[in-house]
Amino acid sequence: MTTVLSSLRQETISTTQTNSLQNTTSSLDSLSPNQQLLPLTTIVNSSDHLEIGGCDVVELVQQYGSPLYILDEASLRTGCQQYREAFTKHYQGQSQVLYASKAWSCLAVCAIVGSEGLGIDVVSAGEILTALRAGVSSSLIYFHGNNKSVEELSYALESGCTIVVDNWHELKSLDNLAKEQSLADSFTASRITPRIMLRLTPGIECHTHEYIQTGHIDSKFGFDPNEIEAVFAFVAASSLNCIGIHAHIGSQIFELQPHKDIGGVMVQWFKLAGEKYGLQFSELNIGGGLGIRYVESDDPPSIEDWVKTVSAGVTDAFINSGLTLPKLLCEPGRSLVGSTCVTAYTIGGSKTVPDIRTYITVDGGMSDNPRPITYQSKYRAVVANHMSATLSQTVTIAGKHCESGDILIKDIQLPETNAGDILVVFATGAYNYSMASNYNRLPKPAAVIVGTGESSLIIKRETREDLLRQDCLPERLRK
Ligand code: LLP
Repeated sequence: MTTVLSSLRQETISTTQTNSLQNTTSSLDSLSPNQQLLPLTTIVNSSDHLEIGGCDVVELVQQYGSPLYILDEASLRTGCQQYREAFTKHYQGQSQVLYASKAWSCLAVCAIVGSEGLGIDVVSAGEILTALRAGVSSSLIYFHGNNKSVEELSYALESGCTIVVDNWHELKSLDNLAKEQSLADSFTASRITPRIMLRLTPGIECHTHEYIQTGHIDSKFGFDPNEIEAVFAFVAASSLNCIGIHAHIGSQIFELQPHKDIGGVMVQWFKLAGEKYGLQFSELNIGGGLGIRYVESDDPPSIEDWVKTVSAGVTDAFINSGLTLPKLLCEPGRSLVGSTCVTAYTIGGSKTVPDIRTYITVDGGMSDNPRPITYQSKYRAVVANHMSATLSQTVTIAGKHCESGDILIKDIQLPETNAGDILVVFATGAYNYSMASNYNRLPKPAAVIVGTGESSLIIKRETREDLLRQDCLPERLRK
């Protein structure tokens, strides 16, 4: 007889050999969180409930409400440590891991990754503010984006962040800002030279959803390689301090080869910049992109294997070109935070269309997880309040939004369910809260962090009143 528990065990045992739902925290260090379907501390407790970070998920929902994002601190810290330690082990030069906070930007996540020695990749003034308020030093904040406003650029410069310049418009705006600033500051000694990197499109294709490919030539991001000499010439004549170059080829990538190839492509530009334009770059940023396991069939490389591969690619390329090794930066988002979090929902009604399917509805959906409707992403779920129950039906989990496509999971095996049961969807840490909306005026869920049996709120649940906070009703429309 197949149960939810045994099916999860099977899939975790068969793919990692060492993990199972009965794991205790003793072996966490050796597991690469991005390869696990479940947060590392997940077990089934004596009440037959799912437990994460020593906290009973059913009790968490009773305490904090539903839907609820539940973030496992140990998984997040383990991922950060594995990235850092792998660079120390496999790369001879200096390195710096930056967390791509677009995956989930909030104070607690930024504070944790910052405390693990990571910097932060940000893409808006809002993400800069979040990283700074979380206590991350601006010297470790790198500002991305393909249409940064002058206001955002000024804010980033004043805060001391490094700017990853994406295009001509931005390069020229920054040069103007630098000139204005040097004029304004000519009476003081406090002039700051903008610290920039250049984002280049490396022309490397990878197999992932087309919306999340960025490294191929036909991409909205980065300078086209054909313009590279003009860009270098401009930078060399400007008052900008260009410390290096950046490339990011895409997201949720399982192959290692595309990331291995980046070093070979980028080294030519390092060399050209130095030899022809006198630009002495010291940093090379190879972006993020390592995938995670969302469903049993997903088989991403481990964090260590990814770091080892990119390190070898960069090392070979630089040594063969006779250049000293650059400081190597990378920007993982999904592989750091994705597998650390689950979303708990409360099951409502169900509808059976005879001979076709049974829909089970939950109290959230595309507003808290827009990935299935946007990318046709697949997820795995369990009924957390009776983990050892027999899997007896194939059902489709529908969200509560007024949209037929608001389906979280199609055709999943679950035990019998009743209204009030707690459904837990795995691997929802990346691009869920950060892409959440208020569609149909649903308040955004709360998020808690769990570890060693304790839970703390990290994001409050929005209230109905919060939803009206920005609305204005002009006098003439009032009754
Ligand atoms: N660096 C840059 C410049 C990026 O654009 C991204 C992601 C990353 C780093 C982090 O990539 P990661 O390690 O998370 O794969 N919303 C989509 C993903 C969009 C990724 C955007 N850029 C999704 O839900 O799949």
